Amino acid sequence: MSKIPRLDYDQIASEYNQRYSSDPSQERSRALLALAERVKAQRILEAGCGTGHWLNLLDSLTNGLYGLDFSAKMLHEAGKQSAQLKLTQGSAIRLPYCDNSFDFVYCVDAIHHFGDVQSFIAESFRTVRPGGVLAVVGSDPHSGDDHWYVYDYFDGVLAMDLRRFPSRRTIQDWLAEEGFQDITTEVVEQIRDVYHGRDVLNDPFLKKNATSQLATLSDDAYKSGIGKIKSAIADAESRKEGVAFSSDLCVKMTFGFKPV
Ligand SMILES: C[S@@+](CC[C@H](N)C(=O)[O-])C[C@H]1O[C@@H](n2cnc3c(N)ncnc32)[C@H](O)[C@@H]1O
Repeated sequence: MSKIPRLDYDQIASEYNQRYSSDPSQERSRALLALAERVKAQRILEAGCGTGHWLNLLDSLTNGLYGLDFSAKMLHEAGKQSAQLKLTQGSAIRLPYCDNSFDFVYCVDAIHHFGDVQSFIAESFRTVRPGGVLAVVGSDPHSGDDHWYVYDYFDGVLAMDLRRFPSRRTIQDWLAEEGFQDITTEVVEQIRDVYHGRDVLNDPFLKKNATSQLATLSDDAYKSGIGKIKSAIADAESRKEGVAFSSDLCVKMTFGFKPV
């Protein structure tokens, strides 16, 4: 089986926040805020925090906001957020923090990059205090409920996502195996977008470096996908018909509590 390509986030750090320019994703941050409030969180860690977008949205709650990421350049961007974030370069599968040191540990759109997901969950269990909570936020290409037009036009992208994303069921099972209790999965956001005809070429998520799915493609594979989209538009225009490019993605949050 071929190796899953790893994306070097240093290469795309300066462009990463373009994904938040049109969609600040308040719904996901409301879910994180509610969970943080539920455990009265004063020390919060985001593993794979990237540019610190989500931590920054928790600023009203506490100044104990910790971010960990592999990528020095993503952390450099996180340092520009208005919240005073405590940032560390390191690996989510070997958290450089003491036992029982956080009330709340979470990751957003990152677990599929961690490689050894079970070690991350075990490390989260170690570093969360009794009564604290771990939350894993993201989409699940295994659910079969989602549709993303990118999967239709770029060969191999869905197959790669199915290999690197653990399913929600697997995440739940691993949380239970590591000792978390009261494990729950909730829908925290439904992302729905439709682009008509040429407008799709302005979709910020269609840029080569906007998502790991497209950034890890070779230049030729990326050009081929864009070529298929342009052909579909040209075909529709020649028939004087419309063509729509839709995304309908369900973002879920799976969380569990460390027993007291
Ligand atoms: C898609 S980005 C998500 C960033 C942020 N959570 C967000 O939602 O905007 C994934 C992040 O995970 C980081 N990452 C990947 N593997 C990692 C690991 N093993 N340990 C820590 N961070 C990692 C990447 O450097 C990148 O910043």
